[in-house]
Amino acid sequence: MSDKKLNILFAASEVAGFAKTGGLADVAAALPKALKARGHNVIVVMPRYYKIDPAKLTKLPAPLGVPMGIMGEFWAGVYTTKLPGSDLDIYFIDYEEYFGRSGLYEDERGAYSDNDNRFIFFSKAALQLCNYLHFTPDIIHANDWHTAAMPLLAQTRFVHDFRYAASVLTIHNLQHQGNFYKGVMDVLEVGWEHFNSHEFESHDRVNLLKGGISHADAITTVSHKYADEIQTHEFGFGLENHIQAHAYRLYGILNGVDYDEWSPAKDELIAKKYDFDSLEGKLECKRALQKHFGLEVRDDVALIGFVGRFAEQKGIGLIAGVIRGILDLNVQVVMLGTGEKWAENLFGALSHERKNFALHVGYSDALAHQIEAGSDMFLMPSLFEPCGLNQIYSLRYGTLPIVRATGGLDDTIENFDKENNSGNGFKFYDATLEALYYTVRWAIESYYDEKESFIAMQKRAMQQHFSWDDAASGYEAVYAKALERRRG
Ligand code: ADP
Ligand code: GLC
Repeated sequence: MSDKKLNILFAASEVAGFAKTGGLADVAAALPKALKARGHNVIVVMPRYYKIDPAKLTKLPAPLGVPMGIMGEFWAGVYTTKLPGSDLDIYFIDYEEYFGRSGLYEDERGAYSDNDNRFIFFSKAALQLCNYLHFTPDIIHANDWHTAAMPLLAQTRFVHDFRYAASVLTIHNLQHQGNFYKGVMDVLEVGWEHFNSHEFESHDRVNLLKGGISHADAITTVSHKYADEIQTHEFGFGLENHIQAHAYRLYGILNGVDYDEWSPAKDELIAKKYDFDSLEGKLECKRALQKHFGLEVRDDVALIGFVGRFAEQKGIGLIAGVIRGILDLNVQVVMLGTGEKWAENLFGALSHERKNFALHVGYSDALAHQIEAGSDMFLMPSLFEPCGLNQIYSLRYGTLPIVRATGGLDDTIENFDKENNSGNGFKFYDATLEALYYTVRWAIESYYDEKESFIAMQKRAMQQHFSWDDAASGYEAVYAKALERRRG
């Protein structure tokens, strides 16, 4: 525990337990709890999306005024409750016109066209909330492009209230930058002098993440490797030079795992609980999974699982290229995901064609847990991966990851080495069909031919610990640096 107790405002566009499309939600639920456990005073704020039932929340009496530049002042409702499993307060910004929709960022027709106004509104409301609650933050912790305007907002539009607050921006995914028509500067209301190529301007448009990187007192990303990668042309999505210029205050901190959520020994969503010393339970989970997906129920066949967004990032193009060849081997494959339509269609057709392949298109937390538990191996051949949580969850479930060596995948997975009895998965380097195919084949062969080493590796993986407390102590060190920069 650090000696100084900090007031921390943690703002995120999604928080697990309330609204989730990916790993950001997992982090936004777990990191604040870990910080609180270290003695800090943390509040979390997110939008109240349509699906979050207000009947389960407490409404605060007065509305919140949110200045929206040339659009005038909008009035938001504020709800609150406790973050599940903690006594930490989470607040919800309620504004029907922006958040009363089926999706978080998009619907079937694509991204919402007013995402700029929606998340600038949320960013401003999160700051206003502090005044409303008489909460004086030492740290404003923003996440991804949605809240990336907060560092500058706190120092300009809201300067009076936040002059001693340092801001930290965590980049969970550099691909999404919040790129909009420049007129939104009039809504942001920080002054057009900030619309230049060193701050918010990029190709004559507003780039919220870029501006956030310029103004945050510290920038973090979610693995060490990714912190290096985003400074290169291959992974920088056009911001590599900008990030290099600010790299002196960029830090990589690996995400942890909420083991209350993701442990086969406690998991209520799986067929049978198990641990590294009771792997028979894992076989029951495998049978249940095969049954659920209508696959042949067999203990002696290698079963590979995939859970994730069907996005290029996740290597679905590579999977699509090798899947038939893999299914010709003695293996079963199950996939859970949603996203790119071409992938949903291609994998959908394949599930009718092949008896050893099954697919669930959609989002299902229970199935995600069941796939982690019931599979022997977990496939995650991402083209880039800032951290990646699924491969770390897989380790705890004894489901050995097959990954590409990028970002957090490279930081967390070490190749199987039979001679030295080491490793926790199977890793390849080049983003090619050959590399993926031969690595999957190697994993399958290891499953059949190196049974003892394979099981020893499963047990080793299950005993690894990726602690949120370690990560939180890393954030503490970064907060201290950010405060030093802000307060001198
Ligand atoms: P990303 O944030 O890039 O999507 P991560 O590996 O960090 O990748 O986190 C993904 C999280 O979302 C995991 O908790 C995973 O279980 C969950 N997830 C992704 N797709 C689905 C799905 N279709 N159904 C259920 N959970 C999913
Ligand atoms: C992003 C990244 C993923 C990371 C997650 C949480 O969505 O794609 O790699 O694990 O954020 O930080």
